[in-house]
Amino acid sequence: MKGELKIPNHVAIIMDGNGRWAKARGKNRSFGHLEGSKSLEKIALYAMSRGVKILSVFAFSTDNFKRSESEVNYLMDLFINMFTKKMNKIIANDIKVVFSGRKENLRLDVLDAMNIIVDKTKNNQSGILNICLNYGGQEEIVDAVNNIVKLVKENKLSVDDIDKNTFYKYLYQNLGPIDLLIRTSGEYRISNFMMYQSSYSEFYFTDVLFPDFNEEEFDKAIISFNNRDRRYGNAK
Ligand code: IPE
Ligand code: IPE
Ligand code: MG
Repeated sequence: MKGELKIPNHVAIIMDGNGRWAKARGKNRSFGHLEGSKSLEKIALYAMSRGVKILSVFAFSTDNFKRSESEVNYLMDLFINMFTKKMNKIIANDIKVVFSGRKENLRLDVLDAMNIIVDKTKNNQSGILNICLNYGGQEEIVDAVNNIVKLVKENKLSVDDIDKNTFYKYLYQNLGPIDLLIRTSGEYRISNFMMYQSSYSEFYFTDVLFPDFNEEEFDKAIISFNNRDRRYGNAK
């Protein structure tokens, strides 16, 4: 790709379509999740190599607990395996891993595995991989508000100090606005993803299912981003 492309600072991906990818191959949904996890590592490394500084990915929503126990357990075991045994290239490439989401309802062994990867990468500086796990966008806003109310009650914060910029500090991670939000699998919705952070995001929807979402597909999203005119309400 040509060098003069604008690279978005913060990219987010709603990694969707693992189940359909597996079904199309006569396999069970778990197989799709396993392949999706490989795509995630590949895309995270590629995005950072292209100059993206922050990549937020939707790995498991608060609503995904509605799925069968066996699917939820498979996903949790897959996360443990990723955070404790895989992701070596993420660690080696100086990428810091952080998580967004509620800790409640997550198994202790999952929380332990999350802590392991966070700890291993805490001093890394080249990029941030924000993994949204047991995450809901409305929940995040409500949790931020509760946090703010508590601090105000304890006289640790003044209501006058809250505005749309300082509000970011009370979200799960203070990573700022999303520049480019990608959703795979042909669904045109955000499914309770990062609503506060996506107020002026450019959206990129593709029919490609997440296990097939590769470097070339990522480049297409970047090219599309370069053809957008971000006006932020301004007139030209
Ligand atoms: C996305 O793929 C991964 C998670 C939600 C965990 P899906 O599992 O939603 O796949 P589809 O949408 O059923 O194909
Ligand atoms: C959103 O995908 C959540 C993740 C990608 C983790 P879903 O597959 O859960 O969303 P819906 O149900 O199609 O809206
Ligand atoms: Mg889905």
